[in-house]
Amino acid sequence: MKVAFVCLGNICRSPMAEFVMKQLAQDHDHHLTVVSRATSSWEHGNPIHQGTQDTLNRYGVPYDTHKTSQQISLADLEDYDVVIGMDDQNVIDLKKLSAGRYDDKIFLFCDGGVPDPWYTGDFEETYHLVTRGCQSWLDRLKNN
Ligand code: 4NP
Repeated sequence: MKVAFVCLGNICRSPMAEFVMKQLAQDHDHHLTVVSRATSSWEHGNPIHQGTQDTLNRYGVPYDTHKTSQQISLADLEDYDVVIGMDDQNVIDLKKLSAGRYDDKIFLFCDGGVPDPWYTGDFEETYHLVTRGCQSWLDRLKNN
């Protein structure tokens, strides 16, 4: 199963989800391919936000220090089995890109979405929502 987490910039929320999910999947011996992407090109090539890096370090979640922001493409929508937007706007933007072709693969991460720490500054809140949501997605994907 191939999973892509998607947010606006691919530097705060979706990379956090990518690496939390990778750790959870490994802990549960569940094979998953996990990546993260941006809906926008704004942060293209930029590294994971320091706030996300600090939070992953604090909770002992390993991550790829070389990961940089990458915008989602139509090829990604075709390639991945499940494409998960971190908030409602991300889902709207993904459906715009999909234009009806891959809508059945596009989901919202959790009810209400994950508020953007780029604006809230609250990476701790992000981490708690992300870990809870990833656990729930892992259970859901395991049963498929
Ligand atoms: P993310 O956060 O979507 O969680 O990666 C953001 C990162 C960058 C910007 C907005 C949100 N930005 O405006 O550049």
